[in-house]
Amino acid sequence: MSQAAIWDRFAKGYAKRAISDPESYNRKLEQTAQRLTPSSRLLEIACGTGTTALWHAPNVAHVRASDFSSQMIAIARQKAEDAGVTNVEFVVEAIDDLPRPEAPFDVALAMSILHLLPDPTATLRRVTDCLRPGGYVFSSTVCLRDMGGLVPRLIPYLSWTRLLPRLNPMSADQVIAAHEAAGLRILDRWSAGPGSALFIEAQTPE
Ligand SMILES: C[S@@+](CC[C@H](N)C(=O)[O-])C[C@H]1O[C@@H](n2cnc3c(N)ncnc32)[C@H](O)[C@@H]1O
Repeated sequence: MSQAAIWDRFAKGYAKRAISDPESYNRKLEQTAQRLTPSSRLLEIACGTGTTALWHAPNVAHVRASDFSSQMIAIARQKAEDAGVTNVEFVVEAIDDLPRPEAPFDVALAMSILHLLPDPTATLRRVTDCLRPGGYVFSSTVCLRDMGGLVPRLIPYLSWTRLLPRLNPMSADQVIAAHEAAGLRILDRWSAGPGSALFIEAQTPE
């Protein structure tokens, strides 16, 4: 089964699931919103069912949000239609196929995705190539390598069974290094606590 097909199976459940830590989620939304203006062009990779893209939509000119799961995107499009949102373009697309845009984006989001990718630096470079000089990248990444207990040891087994998506167990230091290797400058980083995702605000060179 392909990775996209695995995520297709999760789509309906993902859409119904409550946000696990609403306080942190809202803080991430608000921090991102501070870099957005009504003329902003926002790019989101691995957008899932579109919750974050749709939250930002009223504050920007245009959003391009992509995900390789057609089921996730189908739900996202339905949510946009139900809400009467017309400035979000939801695209079925693998991150590796992200095209260079004709007009650069101002801000990019990579939420809950880098720990699922074999080469986060390559992805961050690809995203950075889509941004204007001085544009912003926001990411939120589960640092599996920093978790105690059995989790890090079970990951290779879980990935091998293909019951769960492939995981890349990185430490917080490795996630930061991946951003820096992509040419990004870290402006801010925080985590709600041990085991919580690492949120990073970074900037492309001016
Ligand atoms: C944990 S969910 C996060 C969804 C959303 N960003 C959020 O924060 O709720 C990960 C998403 O990444 C997508 N995804 C994983 N690998 C991908 C890839 N290589 N290309 C495009 N989408 C991918 C999955 O389909 C899934 O929707």
